[in-house]
Amino acid sequence: MTFDFDRVIDRRNTFSAKWDRMAQACGVDAPDGIPMWVADMDFAAPPAVTEILRAEVERATHGYYSTSAGWRQACAEWVARRHGWQIEPTWISPTPGIVSGIGLTMQALTEPGDEIVVFSPAYHAFRFIIEANERRIFNVPMTTEQGRYKMDLDLLARTLPERARMVLLCSPHNPGGRVWEASEISALADFCLANNLVLVSDEIHNDLVYPGATHVPTALAAPQIVDSLVTCVAATKTFNLAGAHVGALVTSNPELRKKIDARVNAAGLSSPNLFGMIATEAAWRGGEAWLDALLPYLDANRQHFDAQIARAVPGARSMPLQATYLAWVDFTGTGLAREDFMERITKRARIGISPGPQFGPGGENWVRFNFATQRYWLDEALSRLADAFSDLK
Ligand SMILES: Cc1ncc(COP(=O)(O)O)c(C=O)c1O
Repeated sequence: MTFDFDRVIDRRNTFSAKWDRMAQACGVDAPDGIPMWVADMDFAAPPAVTEILRAEVERATHGYYSTSAGWRQACAEWVARRHGWQIEPTWISPTPGIVSGIGLTMQALTEPGDEIVVFSPAYHAFRFIIEANERRIFNVPMTTEQGRYKMDLDLLARTLPERARMVLLCSPHNPGGRVWEASEISALADFCLANNLVLVSDEIHNDLVYPGATHVPTALAAPQIVDSLVTCVAATKTFNLAGAHVGALVTSNPELRKKIDARVNAAGLSSPNLFGMIATEAAWRGGEAWLDALLPYLDANRQHFDAQIARAVPGARSMPLQATYLAWVDFTGTGLAREDFMERITKRARIGISPGPQFGPGGENWVRFNFATQRYWLDEALSRLADAFSDLK
């Protein structure tokens, strides 16, 4: 089966946050704005998803969802097949997305005022959900090696606050697209064990990895930590179903699971959203050919974007991504002040982006661009950037 990722789909006025909230979120109010911010893709979902949703819509009886047994089985089969990770379906709890799942995990396993470790720059919703739950963000700025991020465990060891209770690992990392080596994950796990820290491993980007890198689930890289490990996986990032808002929390430790499920129940979330559950199950079961076709398309976009941004904006440089469709671009080399390059991107080029400071310390001079769009939009964006920075040549 072939999939047409070049087909432009007009998403304006379709309740798409990416397109329809660009003015509020990114300050781009031009009618021809191009959204390259929030992490969803402009591609149609796998046909298996459309089919199951179409059947549901045509039946038109949208009552409560019956059982997540099949969904949990599909999730377990997916991670076994794609990542060699064998899990029991009973280890999985569905939540309304990963960010809410992390919030519920935090509520279950930590107290207000506790410190939650993140390696910054870190996915901005980690920051938001920690603070919204009245916990404290403990930033551990990453170093770089050969242009890519490294976790600084020495710094963490020197500075770990007394009330640290949990580490939030993003694996692969957003932003920066780092795929961690098993040895790096294992060293972090050893540190967590030695310091009584729960490790939460957000692996939502696990399927979006480029040739040359292999994602190793934390549970496999560091089996020593499994009793203090909660792993987050989802079909939503992989298959472009972010609006379905369904995530999976996985832990083999029944005590942790009991505490997390108690929070899920306390929030009245034990009956999942039927549309999200059937869509994500269909994606895991029937979306693999679509994903295998998508990855080379994203890889070509990544290479094209990285090569062209360096030409369009002299001095700008993308971090070499191993995973995710989120280019992380350093503007330091342009010599421009932040306000200046931001004005050029959002006002002159009319492109909605995620500003680096959202991701915390280390993100100041950076900008995140989502390139999971048709080549048509990517080329239009690159050509506008070339115009907006043409005086630097
Ligand atoms: C690392 C990471 N975790 C979680 C999410 C969002 O998950 P959800 O929409 O299921 O809350 C994203 C979305 O970009 C992400 O990058």
